[in-house]
Amino acid sequence: MIHDEDRSALIHELANAFAQRTEIDELIPFVAQRLREALPASGVSLLLLDEQRNELEFAYNSEGNTQAGHRLVGLRMPADRGVAGAVLRQRAPELIINAQEDRRHYPDVDRKTGMDTGSMLAVPLFAGERALGVIEAVRRSGEPCFTAGDMAMLEQLAHSVAIALENAGRFGAIKAAADQLRAEVDVLRRQLARQDHFSEIVANSAPMLEMFSLMEAAAASSISVLIEGETGAGKELVARAIYRTSSRAKGPFMALNCAAIPDGLMETELFGHRRGAFTGALEDKPGLFRAASGGVLFLDEVGDMPLAMQAKLLRAIEEREVTAVGDTRPHKVDVRLLAATNRDLRAAIAERSFRQDLYYRLAALTIKVPPLRQRREDIPSLASLFLRRAAQQHRKRIDGLTPEALDLLTQFDWPGNVRQLQNEIERAVAVARDGDAISPRHLSPELVASQVKRPTTAPQARAYDATPPVSVLSGSQVSLAARLAECERKIIAEALNQHNHNVSRTALALGISRITLQKKMKEYSLRSL
Ligand SMILES: Nc1ncnc2c1ncn2[C@@H]1O[C@H](COP(=O)(O)OP(=O)(O)O)[C@@H](O)[C@H]1O
Ligand SMILES: [Mg+2]
Repeated sequence: MIHDEDRSALIHELANAFAQRTEIDELIPFVAQRLREALPASGVSLLLLDEQRNELEFAYNSEGNTQAGHRLVGLRMPADRGVAGAVLRQRAPELIINAQEDRRHYPDVDRKTGMDTGSMLAVPLFAGERALGVIEAVRRSGEPCFTAGDMAMLEQLAHSVAIALENAGRFGAIKAAADQLRAEVDVLRRQLARQDHFSEIVANSAPMLEMFSLMEAAAASSISVLIEGETGAGKELVARAIYRTSSRAKGPFMALNCAAIPDGLMETELFGHRRGAFTGALEDKPGLFRAASGGVLFLDEVGDMPLAMQAKLLRAIEEREVTAVGDTRPHKVDVRLLAATNRDLRAAIAERSFRQDLYYRLAALTIKVPPLRQRREDIPSLASLFLRRAAQQHRKRIDGLTPEALDLLTQFDWPGNVRQLQNEIERAVAVARDGDAISPRHLSPELVASQVKRPTTAPQARAYDATPPVSVLSGSQVSLAARLAECERKIIAEALNQHNHNVSRTALALGISRITLQKKMKEYSLRSL
């Protein structure tokens, strides 16, 4: 029983608190604690309504018995159950003399806390028409019953709590959006800095074209995709292409390289942390899962994720929610997962370094990026692309590749795949002088030494009269791949002419997809009108 002066002092104190504290996470526990002391009550809880799941969750509480309080936080019950459910439905508060005799009392609560609830006050929280939750005060069995005066005070306070909650909801949404934006901008800036060229996947070879059809299927659905392939083969390029052509293209693309990040930091990177969760955690950090909400989270080198983290990742995928380090409440996330690995995950499962259940979650569809040595016909166009880029970067005029250099590039085994080829060309362009054509003397010794002895092709004049479309060719000899490329270019150019440069009709006539045709047109610098 509190006296009127105490009551008005308390209301005054709490009103000040509402006016000053912007962080709901500080405000509500403070209010709950002061209220519990003032009534007094053995416990005061705030239950929040989760509209999506139609559940009430114990979000905050103040308990005389702290352990019991901790056990309660996070407990959920159907929104139509319990005394809380009842007051929410009837939109009016209730004073209950003895919960043990009330059929609506939700027994899980007592089971969790190990205490008998006696008298109860329950007040619904509404912001206008919108139900937000319920505030409850309880006393144990045997303690005196709450009074009508206690209830009147709680009601008065509930109004301020509801307003604070609503503001926090708006504020929280704005803050989450800002956090996400900041993370996105950060990633974009890094992408720009690295001068990545993700818009181009060079692919002429059959295995790559086969891969395209899988990628199209992956882009059209929302299932998780595991991209397998050797290092440098183009796994990240594939992941980004799937994202860009998927329905989540407008959302963010967040990537985490599990091989590059220390084990200890992985959890906070993925799930975020609360301010003060550990030394150095100066502010809340949302984590990549939340930053990727509405978009794609790309887990690169996922085979390098430690087992403890794999368990946490699996839980996040299954529950579709994440809990930041130092936080008690989980956050819903809506994220599509793409993962990549250069390891054989099946072997890793066999030796128990990768969880099988996680594997099945990540690999609803598997896409294999073939190593470069299994698609040598892609090498000339790749070389040509990288040459153009490098020449531009170095502001050099490079007169293409000599046939000897192209031969060397085409027969090499490329253990580092496309990335190694790209490095090789960049290096060659760096050492070449303005106006040079790239010849074997510009290539690295490793490449030249690897040359396989083959019957020499007889020197001959050019087999065609057209000027080479791309600056791959130089001198009078041309490799098979280059000649095939030239043939292909001619065929496409003719077909385009025949169909008045209409891409769709030309693609149909050639029996290839529009996308493939556009890719090839770009590669051969052919234009539609
Ligand atoms: N088919 C391709 N066409 C154009 N560039 C490619 C292709 N495949 C890979 N690359 C380039 O090679 C480099 C390595 O590719 P990346 O996707 O990072 O490989 P991975 O993730 O498999 O190690 C990147 O610079 C990428 O842009
Ligand atoms: Mg990679």
